[in-house]
Amino acid sequence: MLSRTLTSRPLRHHSVHIIIAGGSGFLGSLLIKKLCSHGAKITLLTRNPNNVDAQPNVKIVYWDGQTLQLPPHEKPIDAIINLCGLSIARWWTPSAKNSITQSRVQPSKALVKWCLSTNKPPKTFVQISGIDYYDLNTTACNENDNHGNTFLARLSKEWEETTMPLQQSDTRLVIPRLAPVLARTHPPLLPLLLSTRCCLGSIAGPGSQYFSWIHHDDFVNIIHKMVHTPEMTGIYNVCAPNPVPYATFMRTLASICHRPLWLSLPSWFMKSLLGEMASLILDSRKVFPTRLSKSRHQFKYPEIQQALTQIIQS
Ligand SMILES: NC(=O)c1ccc[n+]([C@@H]2O[C@H](COP(=O)([O-])OP(=O)(O)OC[C@H]3O[C@@H](n4cnc5c(N)ncnc54)[C@H](OP(=O)(O)O)[C@@H]3O)[C@@H](O)[C@H]2O)c1
Repeated sequence: MLSRTLTSRPLRHHSVHIIIAGGSGFLGSLLIKKLCSHGAKITLLTRNPNNVDAQPNVKIVYWDGQTLQLPPHEKPIDAIINLCGLSIARWWTPSAKNSITQSRVQPSKALVKWCLSTNKPPKTFVQISGIDYYDLNTTACNENDNHGNTFLARLSKEWEETTMPLQQSDTRLVIPRLAPVLARTHPPLLPLLLSTRCCLGSIAGPGSQYFSWIHHDDFVNIIHKMVHTPEMTGIYNVCAPNPVPYATFMRTLASICHRPLWLSLPSWFMKSLLGEMASLILDSRKVFPTRLSKSRHQFKYPEIQQALTQIIQS
């Protein structure tokens, strides 16, 4: 097993030890920054250790994404956060769909198997999922709603089901069903921002379809809270409490960028261009973080105007 660590400052006495699988990507990098700023010690599981920059208090460990063996001398593990998954931004051919599915299901199964077999299981397991789990034709979705029948809905269901054996264990299972995370440097905002700045921003489809979203700061705050709050268990929609129609989202973006919004791309055009993937833009996602709201969680950016303003002008 390959591993390397860079430790530039001492860990706090009560620092937590968190394993992040798939932590080398967009969300993992955000989370590692937040968790380390609170004194956590991270073990990052990656298939490509040489592509990951060394960071203080982050131990980089190779795994193949299919089996997990950690040396017995590892410190007790407070939490595992599983973020593994091939990007869905590719043509959804049958073979790509299979790769997208297996890149999520196989690492999850391996992590769960390890948790159930070790004599020192983690206290908490955070399994990322997506809001596409739901039947998106329903007007509004909360955590109790049924799953849908799209490719992403079936994928999310299968992905979540791999962690169900943990419910019979001592490990607390938390499943954040995540909305698209808004950040200037990553999709879905990046391409929309670039096209808008070039005066090519557009309203795709009717524009009345809802868009659920979350600011990247709120995403990291919520996952941090999930790791540290023993009362949090089960499924949580992780999205801002104010989803907006797609047209409102694009008009807000255009006005913050001081650009006109004049293009309209009809649904038939989007479908002929993107095929099944057009559902990512055309389906309505009116999802609410009902459980977080009931627990009086304070979102830093609950409104799209303030979230986009902060992201674009910072
Ligand atoms: N970003 C969003 O807005 C959003 C919204 C909802 C859900 N999600 C889900 O959150 C997760 C993380 O998203 P992200 O934006 O951070 O993605 P990302 O930047 O593409 O990172 C994904 C990570 O998954 C790992 N991975 C990819 N294929 C794998 C495989 N076959 N086996 C094992 N690991 C594999 C990669 O790790 P290595 O290459 O280092 O092994 C990579 O670090 C994904 O599962 C995504 O579907 C993201």
